[in-house]
Amino acid sequence: MTSDPQTRALSQALAQGQEPTEAFVWAWLPGATEPVVAGRLQATGDLIEFNYGRSYLDRDDAIALYLPELPLRRGIIDPLDGLRMAGCIADAGPDAWGQRIVMQHLLGAGAGGADPAQLHPLTYLLSSGSDRIGALDFQFSATEYISRDDDSASLEELMNAADRVDRGLELSPALDRALLHGSSVGGARPKALLGAGDRKLIAKFSSSTDPYPVVRAEFAAMELARRAGLNVAKVQLVETLGRTALLVERFDRVEGSRERRAIVSALTMLELDEMMARYASYADLAQVIRERFTDGRDTLRELFSRITFNILVGNTDDHARNHAAFWDGEALTLTPAYDICPQGTSRGGSDPGDGVRARRVPLQPLGRLRERGGHLPADRDRGARDHRRSDRRRRIAVRRRGAGGRYDRGRPPVLLAPPVPQPLRLGGLGR
Ligand SMILES: Nc1ncnc2c1ncn2[C@@H]1O[C@H](COP(=O)(O)OP(=O)(O)O)[C@@H](O)[C@H]1O
Ligand SMILES: [Mg+2]
Repeated sequence: MTSDPQTRALSQALAQGQEPTEAFVWAWLPGATEPVVAGRLQATGDLIEFNYGRSYLDRDDAIALYLPELPLRRGIIDPLDGLRMAGCIADAGPDAWGQRIVMQHLLGAGAGGADPAQLHPLTYLLSSGSDRIGALDFQFSATEYISRDDDSASLEELMNAADRVDRGLELSPALDRALLHGSSVGGARPKALLGAGDRKLIAKFSSSTDPYPVVRAEFAAMELARRAGLNVAKVQLVETLGRTALLVERFDRVEGSRERRAIVSALTMLELDEMMARYASYADLAQVIRERFTDGRDTLRELFSRITFNILVGNTDDHARNHAAFWDGEALTLTPAYDICPQGTSRGGSDPGDGVRARRVPLQPLGRLRERGGHLPADRDRGARDHRRSDRRRRIAVRRRGAGGRYDRGRPPVLLAPPVPQPLRLGGLGR
């Protein structure tokens, strides 16, 4: 079933119970149309360390892949305390949906219900598609770059393939290859990458278990957000084969060019990983924006508008991988908004007020937020505060930022949405 040499080698190794222990990171530098090798990832125990290559450090145009995680220097660089690997690397890898595609690709359709943790993170990085979000890719070789891109499939073929995976069915080798191309894109919803002339698109599909027309709801919210004046990714709704797909224009690609724009998620900016995602707070994000973003003041206004809009449309899935920034080697710039989708509630309602109540965000202090130029109100969620106190890794993260310092003002923060558990199971995906 496998196609390119890299995934073929991975399949063979897996069949013998082996997984890769290293991978080379290739990067598209700002303005470049071809990647250069930047360094090596090495699995050591539970950690994945990074080492810049000498050839990369010697380049005049080299940039740090992300700061403060991976400063341009010689020698092994450990992930920040509490992380298994650098967040900017993890951002470039697949999430629940992509992991499912990779598992199906390497292990067959029977892998549908298997635990995604049974494959090593390096296996996911090395076998997912090369056209990944941002400006990185991962290869077995430090000298030869072999792309795993294949964007020749039509929307109908991709939709059909995603539907078969959603229902736990086998894929033909051609459909398997087509879907693997988009497997590196994060998120849990069924999706694929699509080329449309010079434009690069993410196609988001419905799932057999959607309790309401999720794709249409996302289109409506994204379009409404644009009309309300937010900076959002361009979206288009298309009907084909009697089903609906949302086409989202990629902002990490430059139209008509082979350039790629580096991106990091808010989770990475907050120095957290998925296990600690429940500690991501808008206040910490606002602080990162003040200190490290271009156009800090305008960005705070935009962030506040996005938070408000999410509350109004009942998007309770506003987690730290649903915010991102471009990285140019020195500063961060907020990307257009994406994945704004009203969520159904556990009670089955879709009243926007439910979203607010579900998040326990007090509406009244939000008024004060405006006066304070982007500061967010205190969250009164005692459960979250208790967790915050007791979690060792959170303490490490806070200590790293300077306890009692800039980030920790002694107030419990307003938290972004906690990650929703995404069990990989046959017959559909949760959000
Ligand atoms: N327009 C876009 N351009 C570039 N990257 C995007 C865009 N939209 C989403 N992404 C990236 O793709 C990931 C998955 O997309 P998302 O819409 O969040 O899917 P899901 O609904 O499955 O969470 C995001 O976390 C982000 O990294
Ligand atoms: Mg998302």
